[in-house]
Amino acid sequence: MSFRSEKYNENFHSTSGAYNETKNKFINPSRLKRFKKKSINVLDICFGMGYNSALLFENLIIELSILKWYGLELDKRSLNYALTDKTFNNLWNPKVIEILNSLNSKGLYKNKNFDCDLIIGDARKAIYKLPEKINFDLIFLDSFSPQKCPELWSHEFLSQIRDKIKYKGYLITYTSAAAVRKSLRNLGFNLFNIRPTLSEKNNWSNGTLATFDNQQNNPYITQLSEMEIEHLNTKASIPYRDPTGEMLSKEILDIRKKEQQFSNLLDTNSWRKKWEMA
Ligand SMILES: C[S@@+](CC[C@H](N)C(=O)[O-])C[C@H]1O[C@@H](n2cnc3c(N)ncnc32)[C@H](O)[C@@H]1O
Repeated sequence: MSFRSEKYNENFHSTSGAYNETKNKFINPSRLKRFKKKSINVLDICFGMGYNSALLFENLIIELSILKWYGLELDKRSLNYALTDKTFNNLWNPKVIEILNSLNSKGLYKNKNFDCDLIIGDARKAIYKLPEKINFDLIFLDSFSPQKCPELWSHEFLSQIRDKIKYKGYLITYTSAAAVRKSLRNLGFNLFNIRPTLSEKNNWSNGTLATFDNQQNNPYITQLSEMEIEHLNTKASIPYRDPTGEMLSKEILDIRKKEQQFSNLLDTNSWRKKWEMA
């Protein structure tokens, strides 16, 4: 069960299905067992219907972790609709449904181990509402694609995220867009490719994991390939810029397009041809 946004003209989840996408792109690479009986701080940017966090909650309940969680979301109707759907309700254990219901009705949930707050509004502004001192072990960034919603992939917004993550923390996103990766690399992150699963063997990537720590022992990620590193030297790597944090998607896209026209970087089509991509 998933949604399509009319505003962004894009599906909430890929064709592999919402649950699989969450598991393969966000939850497996997070390696939540590391937090067995330990504290963990998580920020879910673009909470939407809540798949990523619902599966996170389910795993952390099993691990008896102590969770401090924040979700950022523009439109609270997605969770509200999802909770009226029987299939969605049947996916999760009753404790997870209790958390989601509480987030839906009160915007928060608290018990002995979990302390969760959902902040509704534009994530570019909502991020300032997070306590100044908190640093996250995990940040999920699950916005619509960069070409549809560039405001949440801008160098400036990614820089805000960088300031909120622990040294060993993971920023996880489904995108492998060169512009996003290049900004993250310029912000000091080490980049890893999230491995596609066997059934997705025609894809070269399931997304990006960014972290400051270079010592990774994580079976769900690989170093960037030569092809991916070259991608970061093409025109596709020109970042999305939103210096005021208030620009409209179209303004951000127009400015980037102009920058691409005047750029001396390798043409992205030549890169595609070289690596025999459709
Ligand atoms: C791909 S969907 C997220 C799917 C979600 N993670 C889930 O598991 O259901 C993208 C979400 O980004 C939200 N969004 C778009 N622009 C936003 C913004 N500026 N600030 C916060 N959320 C935004 C949309 O409302 C939508 O719920």
